[in-house]
Amino acid sequence: MNEDIEKFFLERGCLIEGKAIEEIERRGGLDYIRKNENRINFSSRVFAVSDLPSVNEFSIVKEFHLDGFPGISDNFIDLFKSRYNILHSRLNERSKNHFFTPVSKLRRDSGQVFASGMVSDYSESKKGYGILEIEDETSSIKVILPKTYKETIIKDEVIGVAGQFSKDGTAIFAENIYRPEASKEPGLSGTSVKVMVVSDIHVGSKNFLEDSFLSMVDYVNTQGISFVIMNGDLVDGIGVYPDQESDLAINDINLQYRKLADLTSRFNSNVRVIIIPGNHDIVYPTEPQNPLPREINSMFPSNVMSLSNPVWVEIGGRIFLLYHGTSIFDFLEAIPGTTMNDTDKIMIEMLKRGHLAPEYGKNLSFIPLKSDYYVIDPVPDVLITGHVHSHSVTTHKGILAINASTFQEQTNYQKMMNFNPKPAIGTVVDTRDLSSFLVKF
Ligand SMILES: [Fe+2]
Repeated sequence: MNEDIEKFFLERGCLIEGKAIEEIERRGGLDYIRKNENRINFSSRVFAVSDLPSVNEFSIVKEFHLDGFPGISDNFIDLFKSRYNILHSRLNERSKNHFFTPVSKLRRDSGQVFASGMVSDYSESKKGYGILEIEDETSSIKVILPKTYKETIIKDEVIGVAGQFSKDGTAIFAENIYRPEASKEPGLSGTSVKVMVVSDIHVGSKNFLEDSFLSMVDYVNTQGISFVIMNGDLVDGIGVYPDQESDLAINDINLQYRKLADLTSRFNSNVRVIIIPGNHDIVYPTEPQNPLPREINSMFPSNVMSLSNPVWVEIGGRIFLLYHGTSIFDFLEAIPGTTMNDTDKIMIEMLKRGHLAPEYGKNLSFIPLKSDYYVIDPVPDVLITGHVHSHSVTTHKGILAINASTFQEQTNYQKMMNFNPKPAIGTVVDTRDLSSFLVKF
């Protein structure tokens, strides 16, 4: 590994200090260097730690763009194939004692069986048994769940089934269900960088809490915060829902962004601000969403970075996955008894399934990509959503999951729906140990 890094620098005409190699390895080794090559200056003859991008730098781990990664297909087959392949591999990486076999490769003559597949159908028998159909690209099989199984099955999620074949080999009587969970080794430490996490700013709405937002800016500028993440719905937009005009203080979307740009220019110039779009922003609603268009982006100061939704970034040696969270409503519909105040539970359900939005064809419309961009891969240290204007912080299997708060107070629609948002709460994350605390503005 050391030699590979040395070789990489030698090929670019410089030697590298041992301490710089150690630091690079801590940040992810050769992979880190490759991804950040254009941020690195190779002009010194001996490359030192101080030549590396500062911790106030961040790197993009995985970003979407309609014209590039991961490419568009003319149907959804490639997307589902890639979802199955990645999550099937993850199931088997995590499983110590047995191998989950794709449905099409099962030998249907043995008693004990470990199978993996994507859920294509789910129903309940009159006697209360859950009955599934799981499939891979070419084959499918029925799975009968034990009566005691109480967890929700979501259509199109990938699962592992341990059980017994029925006598005729046409069904599996499941004893256990396994999931390709996203998990991280606990206790690994990163560099200490403080990140302020907020969402759903809704500039332009009559209900935008400008004073609270400015208090947040002041806090960031004075309390050693290096990064601010704004997780979508940056502005209220125009024509997002019927009669929106009556809820708007600024009814021109360009002026809404100008106002946001003015507000973000109040952050100290050494604070880096990462913004992603949501369903109210000036990008198409199909997901994944491109970063804001160039003409909008150019309004912002240079310390503001406009990225895609979702996007994976690395800050202080930690991977943050930023997803606005439109699929939360799919999970709410799928999981009985959950409400908009259960975003912590919903985010755990995402992590358990290794997927941000498993169910196809509900509240979300997708671009038919060649690979499934919504698989939680790479596994992040921090998963951030917004969208529902609630707030929660939880940890699951070493991953910090934050549903970030909004800067829009209760709207008439929310009042009608009897939903009380939890606005103006900043969540501050320290990347060293993934500890977090809340600040009310
Ligand atoms: Fe929102």
